[in-house]
Amino acid sequence: MKTSVAIYPGSFDPVTNGHLDLIGRGEQMFDHLIVAVLSNVEKQPLFSVAERVDMLKEVTKKWESVEVDVFEGLLVDYARKRGAGVILRGIRAVSDYEYELQMALMNRKLEPRLETVFMLPGESYSYLSARLVRQLAQFGGPLAGLVPPLVEQRLREKVS
Ligand code: PNS
Repeated sequence: MKTSVAIYPGSFDPVTNGHLDLIGRGEQMFDHLIVAVLSNVEKQPLFSVAERVDMLKEVTKKWESVEVDVFEGLLVDYARKRGAGVILRGIRAVSDYEYELQMALMNRKLEPRLETVFMLPGESYSYLSARLVRQLAQFGGPLAGLVPPLVEQRLREKVS
């Protein structure tokens, strides 16, 4: 029997309920799911990598086969290192497609054996993004239902 190892990469700044929805779906589908936080982002993050990893570990601890890790450099190199055959990405709307297509095809060119699998998050999360969550937090908007309670608390602390 094949063992499927998938990587769900991203910035996760911070993890949202949309990400969690996808992790839950991935956990059902793959033997081992590695949630991998990119550490060499050019943009200024709200949370440090350590803070993001800490939140991710806390909110995914109920899933035994889900691991949280950090990577830098090219995703394909990290996937090779971890023995993963699948990259998992979520597509919320058509607007996500172009960027995801570019990335998936570039990754395929770099490593043809690595397959990108797209999954749809629950439709109630189709408008949700970490960027909008950061904005809401900055201006005191409601966050309930958009992020796990722990993340809401950390967001409030961060912007206070
Ligand atoms: O959550 P994001 O910011 O949409 O995630 C983007 C991410 C981390 C998946 C992407 O930027 C990435 O894989 N970066 C690592 C560098 C890389 O391998 N880029 C793709 C091929 S050039």
